Amino acid sequence: MITSPLQGRVILLVISGGIAAYKSLDLIRRLREQGARVRCILTKGGAEFVTALSVAALSEEKVYTDLWSLTDEQEMGHIRLVRESDLIIVAPASANIIAKLAHGLADDLASTALLAANKPILLAPAMNHAMWDNPATQHNIAMLKQRGFHQAGPNEGAMACNETGMGRMADVPEIMAAITDILGKPGDLSGKHALVTSGPTYEPVDPVRFIGNRSSGKQGHAIAAALAARGASVTLVSGPVSEPDPKGVKIIHVETAEQMLGACLQALPADLFIACAAVADWRVADYSEQKIKKDGGVSTLALEPNPDILATIAAHHLRPKLVVGFAAETDNLMENAKKKLAQKGCDWLLANDVSNGAVFGADENSVWFMHRGAGDHAEYEHWPPQSKTALAQALAEKIAEYFKE
Ligand code: C5P
Repeated sequence: MITSPLQGRVILLVISGGIAAYKSLDLIRRLREQGARVRCILTKGGAEFVTALSVAALSEEKVYTDLWSLTDEQEMGHIRLVRESDLIIVAPASANIIAKLAHGLADDLASTALLAANKPILLAPAMNHAMWDNPATQHNIAMLKQRGFHQAGPNEGAMACNETGMGRMADVPEIMAAITDILGKPGDLSGKHALVTSGPTYEPVDPVRFIGNRSSGKQGHAIAAALAARGASVTLVSGPVSEPDPKGVKIIHVETAEQMLGACLQALPADLFIACAAVADWRVADYSEQKIKKDGGVSTLALEPNPDILATIAAHHLRPKLVVGFAAETDNLMENAKKKLAQKGCDWLLANDVSNGAVFGADENSVWFMHRGAGDHAEYEHWPPQSKTALAQALAEKIAEYFKE
């Protein structure tokens, strides 16, 4: 049975000031009809156009209005409000809230919650056409798009101020279509088994020390969640990370590269494999059962190579149909990545530049997407900087398209 992609999802709807706020009431109803839970933040401006009472009645949830409300913060808190949401919608998104978002202001509950957001954000701008056309607004919206914000509308037409132009908020069906695009088509990966690696590996030196790296697991975990949201059954093999386990995913926690490989081999067969983990290339050859004492002076560590999990799975007789690797490079990005695509035997490779140390642990990611064309030829496209969640969704979309063919 195909269910709505909104079934069981938590949507945080920010209603800012604008006459179009009346459409947001209908949006709440439509979201609820599709099985979503809708929590709302009503800004001071928004409350001039719709009442908290109507919003509460339609959403059947408490309406949040005040950053400094002790009860609200005790019950939920602005951080939890965003953390517990699958998607945040700002509708209407006024010129003011767009400017605040672009510049990182946090002077009320809505802007503070949005600044703390780690989830996709959909903006439905609504304002007078001169405000929309103003270079300041255009610059702000361009910045937000660069950062991976989604946008529905605005559209051209007659406005409440008796003028005509660009700035009318998108109608509810258009916003609903944008939401479905972000949250994924219902179950288009159902029946597919996805195997994903994430995080670093820790290679022990002695009982208290290890060799590790700075991978946070944010990207791999986001990919596992995005695939699960589209109905895939996901096995996530994760090294030590502080990211919470994604919901609806089978997670296997490991420490070393050898354990990661073992867990991946056990999880086969799979339809697709995504090697997102930053696997240590080397492990300590002579692990010391005792803590190595410093009195012995500086000793050398003998290292031996770890198995290459990606290459092993790509060459396995149970090779998944689609094998995707990542390549973090500090120099000659394209050249090295092209080489890796061929050497590792993967179908797709997402390459990113880590020369400035920006990717590991960051919330944003910008990659070159490469795939094998005819013969040895590699084809590539640049994916602009976007949140790791947005990148995961873009990859999941691409995977769903691949399996449709
Ligand atoms: O060789 P390099 O580490 O740059 O390759 C990166 C890609 O290979 C990533 O997809 C990573 O998950 C995978 N890899 C692996 N096992 C290793 C080393 C890398 O699966 N031992």
